[in-house]
Amino acid sequence: MARLHQSRKRILVTGGAGFLGSHLIDRLIGQGHEVICADNLYTGSKRNIEHLHNHPRFEFLRHDVCNPLKIEVDEIYNLACPASPVHYQHNPVLTTKTSVMGALNMLGLAKRLRCRIFQASTSEVYGDPEVHPQREDYWGHVNPIGTRACYDEGKRCAETLFFDYHRHHGVDIKVARIFNTYGPRMLPMDGRVVSNFITQALAGEDLTLYGDGKQTRSFCYSDDLVEGFLRLMESPADVTGPVNLGNPGEFTMIELAGQVLKLTGSRSKLIHLSLPEDDPRQRQPDITLAKEKLGWQPTVPLAEGLKRTLDYFRKLT
Ligand SMILES: NC(=O)c1ccc[n+]([C@@H]2O[C@H](COP(=O)([O-])OP(=O)(O)OC[C@H]3O[C@@H](n4cnc5c(N)ncnc54)[C@H](O)[C@@H]3O)[C@@H](O)[C@H]2O)c1
Repeated sequence: MARLHQSRKRILVTGGAGFLGSHLIDRLIGQGHEVICADNLYTGSKRNIEHLHNHPRFEFLRHDVCNPLKIEVDEIYNLACPASPVHYQHNPVLTTKTSVMGALNMLGLAKRLRCRIFQASTSEVYGDPEVHPQREDYWGHVNPIGTRACYDEGKRCAETLFFDYHRHHGVDIKVARIFNTYGPRMLPMDGRVVSNFITQALAGEDLTLYGDGKQTRSFCYSDDLVEGFLRLMESPADVTGPVNLGNPGEFTMIELAGQVLKLTGSRSKLIHLSLPEDDPRQRQPDITLAKEKLGWQPTVPLAEGLKRTLDYFRKLT
C-alpha cells in the first residue's frame, strides 16, 4: 500500500533520550516525521523527552542497542553511546560493546531495510592530535590501551564497520565526527567542562581546571550541531563522510571559565587539578568539508549559547 504521507518518514533515533538525541528528535518531529526513540536510559533521561509523551508521532522503546532490533523505518540515526568521560569510563567494556555491537545491529537493520543510516562518531577518533586543526583525512593519534580507549577505539571500530557495510553491502551511510557540543539537557557534573563549570559557578563552588587550563577546546551549540546532522542526512548519497561537525572557535579552559563566571556573576575561584590521562592539549575542527558539501557552519556564538545553557541549568536548581 502506498504510504499516506510520502514526505513523512518513520525515523529511528537510538540514544534519543540523551542530550543530543532529544534535540534531534524535537527537530524531526517539528518537520512532521514519525520518530521512534530507542534508548536503554543508561545516561539518557525520560525528562528529555517527556514533552513528547502523548505526541501521536512519537514512540519510546526501552531498548539496548547491543541487542538486535526488528522494526520498519525509513532512516536511522545511531547516537546510542555514553559520551562523557565519567560515564564511558564507568563501565569501559560496556562502552566498547555499545559502540561496536550497536553499530553492527543498526547496520544490519539498515541493510535489511535498505535505508540510510547516520553514525554519531566523534573527534575522539583523532585522539591527542599531532596536526592542528584536524581534517577528516588525519588518521589520528590514539592510545589503544589507555583509559579513554574504550570510547575512542569503540567509535573508530564503529566507523570501520560503517565503511565496510557501505563497500561490501551497499549500505547508504552518513558518518559525522562530532566535536565538543554543549547546550540545554546536558547532565550537570558529568565530567564535560561546560556543564561542570556552570554547575560549580551556580553553586558558588570553585571551578576545577585540569592542568594549567591552557589546553584548548572548541564548543558547538546543540542547535547548530543538529542542523549539521539534518543536512548530512539529506545530502547526496556520495557524501558518506566522515564529516567534521563542530565550532572552529578555539578557547582555553581559562577563557571558558572566565565567560561562565561573567555570565553567572559568580565569585567562584579557579582551582587546578592534575591533568587526566591522555587529555588532548588542543582540539579544533577543520570544517571546510562541511561548508563545501553541506553549506553548514555554526551560527551561535559561545556567549549566546552559554547564556541559553545557563538558563536551562538555573531552572534545574
Ligand atoms: N555531546 C558531545 O559533545 C559529543 C561529541 C562527540 C560525539 N558525541 C556522540 O553523540 C552521541 C550522543 O551523545 P550525547 O552527548 O547526547 O550523550 P548522552 O549520554 O546524553 O546520550 C547518549 C544516549 O545513549 C543512550 N545509550 C547508551 N548506551 C545505550 C545502549 N547500549 N542502548 C541504547 N541506548 C544507549 C543513553 O541512555 C543516552 O540517552 C553519542 O554517540 C556520542 O558519542 C557527542
